[in-house]
Amino acid sequence: MSVTLIDGKAFAAKVRGQVAEHVSALKESHGVTPGLAVVLVGEDPASQVYVRSKGKQTVEVGMNSFEHKLDVDTSEADLLALIDRLNNDPDVHGILVQLPLPEHLNEDLVINSIAPEKDVDGFHISNVGLLGTGQTSMVPCTPLGCLMMLREHHGSLSGLNAVVVGRSNIVGKPMAQLLLGDSCTVTIAHSRTKDLPEVLRRADIVVAAVGRPEFVQGDWIKPGATVIDVGINRIERDGKNKLVGDVDFASAQTVAGAITPVPGGVGPMTIACLLANTLTACCRSRG
Ligand code: GUN
Repeated sequence: MSVTLIDGKAFAAKVRGQVAEHVSALKESHGVTPGLAVVLVGEDPASQVYVRSKGKQTVEVGMNSFEHKLDVDTSEADLLALIDRLNNDPDVHGILVQLPLPEHLNEDLVINSIAPEKDVDGFHISNVGLLGTGQTSMVPCTPLGCLMMLREHHGSLSGLNAVVVGRSNIVGKPMAQLLLGDSCTVTIAHSRTKDLPEVLRRADIVVAAVGRPEFVQGDWIKPGATVIDVGINRIERDGKNKLVGDVDFASAQTVAGAITPVPGGVGPMTIACLLANTLTACCRSRG
């Protein structure tokens, strides 16, 4: 049986197209343009790339993009004052503070100062609680993108065994909540899990989000399973800089039924979901 490549790039383009249509309709019917504010503190090169890409795609779907680039030594008080202004700005429907923040800033404090209804990352403690109790919330973009690809590929996920490898607040934990919401039997595995290959071999769905290049091996995967690779790792191979996931793609693709490539899998879906969340925040703000 040959493996299906889950094309996140094409799926993300479709989602962005749908968002753009809604944005255009919203402008016509209500004279409102959704706005996304992105805050970057410091000059981390990877964060700069992400923020540029987010701004570009925000404009491409017809939304307003507000970029706030702050010095690396910005004080917590100044950052909180900016967030307070954005919370009260009616033209801003979504706020994203790019992580990681410089060490002197308290990430939890900063994230929890964002108005929950504008928290398009879904990281605010209120949104985490709402998701955990199955209530309407802002859902973190990367796990939401993974869920959309899984639903598209499988239809119903009900009753499937899902193993999430990684327990981060950004991906692992919300991913597990979303899969549970779709009636999967969910296991969260992590660096201390005993006999991870054995745990993974029971999985119909594997979501790898450990941040370790090519960690999950093909012979840990159940034949025919669906593998979602959240990892984005830069490595040197044969003297070249290469982007690889958390799954050893070469061996995994010989066993899996379907797999997301890196690049071109989960990555593009994350920003598409950010735009969808901003549109949702805008619509909810209007009741
Ligand atoms: N840094 C890496 N991924 C993310 C994300 O999804 N949201 C934010 N705010 N920062 C990140």
